[in-house]
Amino acid sequence: MGAVALAYRSFAAREARGRSVAYEELAQEVAGDEALVAFIASLPPAKQQPQLFFAAARYLLGFPPGIGELRELASRSRAELAQVILARSTQTNEPARCAIVLPVLAQLPPPLALVEVGASAGLTLLVDRYSYDYGGHRVAGGDPLAPTLRCRPSGPVPLPARVPAIAWRAGLDLSPLDIASDDDARWLSCLVWPGEGDRAERLRAAMAVARRDPPVVHRGDLLTGLPALVAQAPAGTTVVVYHTSVLYQVAPHGREQFAATVRGLGVTWVSSEAPGIVPGTAMPAVDDQMCVLARDGRPVARADSHGAWLDWLV
Ligand SMILES: C[S@@+](CC[C@H](N)C(=O)[O-])C[C@H]1O[C@@H](n2cnc3c(N)ncnc32)[C@H](O)[C@@H]1O
Repeated sequence: MGAVALAYRSFAAREARGRSVAYEELAQEVAGDEALVAFIASLPPAKQQPQLFFAAARYLLGFPPGIGELRELASRSRAELAQVILARSTQTNEPARCAIVLPVLAQLPPPLALVEVGASAGLTLLVDRYSYDYGGHRVAGGDPLAPTLRCRPSGPVPLPARVPAIAWRAGLDLSPLDIASDDDARWLSCLVWPGEGDRAERLRAAMAVARRDPPVVHRGDLLTGLPALVAQAPAGTTVVVYHTSVLYQVAPHGREQFAATVRGLGVTWVSSEAPGIVPGTAMPAVDDQMCVLARDGRPVARADSHGAWLDWLV
């Protein structure tokens, strides 16, 4: 039980601070509550994370919980709460991550065939539908109703003149979310932390875009399903395999295995993951949210993992 309290305190101090006052306070309160800590400790270790617990409570309540509501839920609706936690996982799908990968994608010969692993609901497959604003440099996307993704560039970012032509796209996920399902859309919304600026609104707008023309996300494991999916890409396209904030969910030996598989496919590989998660991309992090953008395993930029800034390496 000591480990759970410690993990929630660490989450408050390292992850929630500066990002969500509500979750920072809630995680501290949970860490000091014996009954809640006991409930969390009864869950499998992979299901004990604060962001999953809080999202599940929000999913059941319909609003972000306070400590009182969490206590009540965990005592009165314990089985129901545990069921949501066991059935769901943290599959945050952040469209703004497209602003990180776009400059690399726009450098490749079009048309592109996109294969995204860990695609969740497919919102990060819609790179060409969103519009972008890189510190005043605007790039028009293909859907006038889609949100504009704002990203602060620094260093020699190769800012694109336009979004690339995409001939084909497909996602792969262990447990794809169905953008057409109200339940899955609600779960995605519950994964946004309270107080995170415009994320909730951006997600709502991106989900509306995806619902008009849903991207295909296949169920499968990135460790085994990638070659068959890449083989479906049409001839005459530049095939790009990419992933954002996914490989931290894969064990280190699996990341090595994945890297070897991608390298053997003869595709362009674009990744945006925390430093060192992709083999060969370790570097000092400026904060807990920093990720490394890499092309074919070679770092090209540092970025905010939610797409707020992009700093090109010289
Ligand atoms: C944090 S979400 C990120 C989603 C999306 N890439 C984004 O940046 O918004 C990670 C996703 O990776 C998926 N995932 C984790 N391990 C996987 C695996 N071995 N194979 C396929 N998908 C996996 C999860 O199901 C989840 O949807």
